[in-house]
Amino acid sequence: MFKHFSKVLAEIASGAPFDLAAAFANDQSRESRYTLAAGGLHLNYAQQFIDDAALNACAHFLDEQKFRSKIEAMFQGQKINVTENRAVLHTALRSEDKTPLVVDEQNVREEIAVEFAKMADFVEQVYQEGRYTDIVNLGIGGSDLGPRMVVRALRYDWQNKVRVHFVSNVDGTDMFETLQGLNPDTTLFILASKSFTTQETLLNAETAKTWLGARKVADHFIAITSKPEAAMAWGIKADKIFAMWDFVGGRYSLWSVIGLPIALAVGMDNFKRLLKGAYQMDQHFRTAPWRENMPMLLALIALINQNGLGAQSHAILPYDQTLELFPAYLQQTDMESNGKRATLQNEPVDYQTGVALWGGVGTNGQHAFHQLLHQGTLNIPIDFILPLQPRHPYQSHHEVLVANCLAQKEALLIGRQTNELYRNMPGNRPVNLITLPELNPETLGALIALYEHKIFVQSLLWDINAFDQFGVELGKELAQKFLNAS
Ligand code: F6P
Repeated sequence: MFKHFSKVLAEIASGAPFDLAAAFANDQSRESRYTLAAGGLHLNYAQQFIDDAALNACAHFLDEQKFRSKIEAMFQGQKINVTENRAVLHTALRSEDKTPLVVDEQNVREEIAVEFAKMADFVEQVYQEGRYTDIVNLGIGGSDLGPRMVVRALRYDWQNKVRVHFVSNVDGTDMFETLQGLNPDTTLFILASKSFTTQETLLNAETAKTWLGARKVADHFIAITSKPEAAMAWGIKADKIFAMWDFVGGRYSLWSVIGLPIALAVGMDNFKRLLKGAYQMDQHFRTAPWRENMPMLLALIALINQNGLGAQSHAILPYDQTLELFPAYLQQTDMESNGKRATLQNEPVDYQTGVALWGGVGTNGQHAFHQLLHQGTLNIPIDFILPLQPRHPYQSHHEVLVANCLAQKEALLIGRQTNELYRNMPGNRPVNLITLPELNPETLGALIALYEHKIFVQSLLWDINAFDQFGVELGKELAQKFLNAS
């Protein structure tokens, strides 16, 4: 696929980078023409090196390649994770479709419904009984970053029935600091590990077990795993084990029972609103024409910047304090998915795949790394993410925040030319602006799904498998070797 697409890219790149400020000046409709609404989100991509001819060429290519069927293959449960022979069905977790979806002779919709019912009962029980004051999620990677980020982001939806904590790092400080001030009598641990083999999580769980002293593990631990036997052997009661499935990858699992910390923090109704927002984005992705398809446009723009114009890095800059963990969350989703060097045909890639993704919240970043964005020699494409209404009461703060976000975008467009080189800024930087009416469960769900699908489209265009992660294996094996030797 990429061999063909690279020709389209080469054509687009031959006319770019052009002068973006001049493009705005010469075409009054550019700003409004290159905007799009979907799933409650708004994307402005006018400050990108695209024009109608480029977008039409991409759309033509996608039709020619019957791209829609490749997307449908995921939604319909085909085993597109070919290296692990697995379906990829995180979208089924948020689907409102009731028609059976069969994988390996199982209707996954039924399996999912059973687990969600159990999850809702559990949240209700915790709320009603009031036995636990603190919940500690023990998990790492996908069993940590998604729920941690969402709990932080939905700060204004917290029910405040329990406090939710996260411990991921094997560094004992993570555990030590979290346990300070907690009462073992009223603390519940969630052992979140799909594989139930992850060294960091199991060691943290052992430490928690020791911390509980003579208290029964069965009363203070639940598990979320696809290996229930291993969890039972560890001491967790069968009815306290929630299922995960091979058809949901770790970094795509916040929609599953791995999202239990989210449901405990914000309530099951808000958790369902999160799923609803993602489902709306799923529907948009499946049905919208390419030129009006938000995940598709983000992916095409990313490839133009990376493979067409050589960008090796991508910055995610939310102007919202509650989204402070979003770049770190997206780092795993994007880099673990697309940091690959073999094609689906088991050939080496000879083009750039995943980028170095990073970021931080505005305005803090402005007084830190934005200097390099404005005057550095690297050209780093940026996504600004901006909720238009705050959920805190300090309207004047929000006005300043919004003004700063828009000012950064403008400065990155127009730059500055003076006779003093050290003051000069080239501008002409590619920027997306994603706005949300406000950050709530629905819009957050849509935002996460938007990036999940963008990453998927990129992988399809690059001919790589976004759903395995063999790159992390060697380090794990070597760590064991060093441990055995010590
Ligand atoms: O580090 C790789 C990884 O396999 C991630 O993909 C996964 O999210 C994480 O480890 C945690 O895995 P588990 O849930 O099996 O403990």
